[in-house]
Formats: sequence, structure tokens, C-alpha cells
Amino acid sequence: MYQLIDGKELAKNIRQELKKENDKLKEKGINAKLAVILVGDDSASKVYIKNKSKACNDVGIEYEEILLDSNTTMEELLQVIENLNKRDDINGILLQSPIPNGLDIQKAFEKIDYRKDVDGFNPVNVGKLTIGQDGFIPCTPYGIIKMLESYNIPIEGKNAVVIGRSNIVGKPLSQCLLRKHATVTICHSRTKNIKDITKSADILISAVGKLNMVTSDMVKDGAVVIDVGMNRNENGKLAGDVDFENVKEKASYITPVPGGVGPMTIAMLMNNVIKATKLQNGIN
Ligand code: GUN
Repeated sequence: MYQLIDGKELAKNIRQELKKENDKLKEKGINAKLAVILVGDDSASKVYIKNKSKACNDVGIEYEEILLDSNTTMEELLQVIENLNKRDDINGILLQSPIPNGLDIQKAFEKIDYRKDVDGFNPVNVGKLTIGQDGFIPCTPYGIIKMLESYNIPIEGKNAVVIGRSNIVGKPLSQCLLRKHATVTICHSRTKNIKDITKSADILISAVGKLNMVTSDMVKDGAVVIDVGMNRNENGKLAGDVDFENVKEKASYITPVPGGVGPMTIAMLMNNVIKATKLQNGIN
């Protein structure tokens, strides 16, 4: 029998706790504020940022959206970031990915003040995560670790297999799992005999963005299966990377899509905004 990991419920609880923390900041006259930059008109990004603004509203975090058209130059984008870096009323800055071709997202992430980098994508925070220093941890990996911990799923000494090596999920997640003393393997598009590797996973996480990427023959009995995928199935419905109906029969724990990792990502963004606000105001 598998147990469903309810990311939606968990995220709701986290947001409630964060609201209490934020209310305390407000009593001190501190108003946490997040700025979100969207360049171009990627339709998925629009949905994501709408959910982020809703979450801010829930937690009582102020929210400012900066919408730039797809012809924006790199200089203009860097200037927008620079202005936000300088503003005392802005505690967190998020540049929604992807941005239009021709713009260098890495350069833009580098420009975001690492103290306001609530996504954890600035190389300073990437480095801090790698060497185990306190910094901002990318929201999706952070949310996944929180999920595992909340369900008392042991990580230490376990074989964790991550499918996908993106800078946003796969790589930082591998670092997070390593920090929790898992034995971590990363699989990607050039990996040979992927099934042999995934079969050894106590914790299997897919962050590819491909429908039915993970089939039941790839999963060990009793594995914990975490699905980061956000795809549309043949009926136009939201679905993950995992063939849920078949894989669930083998899993001990499994996340649904929607209602799994997605809400946790946003909850951890709220967590990072509160953390940034506290740091910038000298509160521990
Ligand atoms: N695009 C998809 N996921 C994310 C995320 O977590 N942060 C940002 N900035 N862009 C994304």
C-alpha cells in the first residue's frame, strides 16, 4: 500500500506558519516584499507567477510584478534588476525562467543581489549550497526535502536517484540530498541503461518534463517516488513525469501531480522571502 504525499496540505500549513511570522514582522513595522520579473509572454510562466502572487497575498507579503516585453535588451534587464537591488522596500527578487532567447539568464541571476536572491540561483547561493553554508536554497529542491522530512522519510544512507540535471531542480536537489547524507546518482538524457540505475533507488525523483518518463518497471518495490514534472497529457490535463497509476502500486510514498511538489515550491518561496526580510533587518 502506498501513501500519497499531500503537498497541497503541507504547503497550506507552511504558509499558515509563515503568516504568523510575517505578522510579527509587521508588528515591528517591517513589510516583507517580493518583486517578480517576467520577460516576454510565456503562458506557463504567467500561471506560475499568478500562483506566486496569490501565495504572497495569503501570507501577507507585498508583491510587485515587473512585466517586460520580449524585445527587452540585456542592458535593460540588468538595469531593472539593479534598481530592485537598490530599493530598500524590496526584500526578494525573482526573475521568472525562461526568458526569451538571446538574453543570458545566468548573467541576470548573477546580477540579483545574493541577499535578495530568494530563488537561490545567484552563483553565491549555488556555491553556499555546495559547500554547506547557510544561503538561499532553490524552492523546488527545498520543498522536496521538506516533504520527505514532514513524512519522516529517512534520507541518510539511502540511494537517491535524480532524473534531470537542470540548474533549477536536478543539480541543487542533488546537493540538498547529499547534504542530508544520501548516496546520490544523477541520470540525464545521455545516461545509459537508466532503468538499471533507477531500480536501485530508495528515493526516486524525476525532474525531466516528459510524460510517462518513469514507468513501473523502472521502480523498486517500496521506493519513494517524487514527481517534479508538469506536463499536459493527451486530454490536456496536468500530469507529471511518472506513470502514476502503475507506479503507485510499487511505491511506498508517491507525490501526485497536481498537488504534490508544485504547491511546496511556492511555499518555500514564501519561506525564502521571509528569511530574506529577516536577514536584511538583522533578525535571526
Ligand atoms: N521557472 C520554473 N520554475 C521556476 C522557479 O522555481 N523559479 C523561477 N525563477 N523560474 C522558474
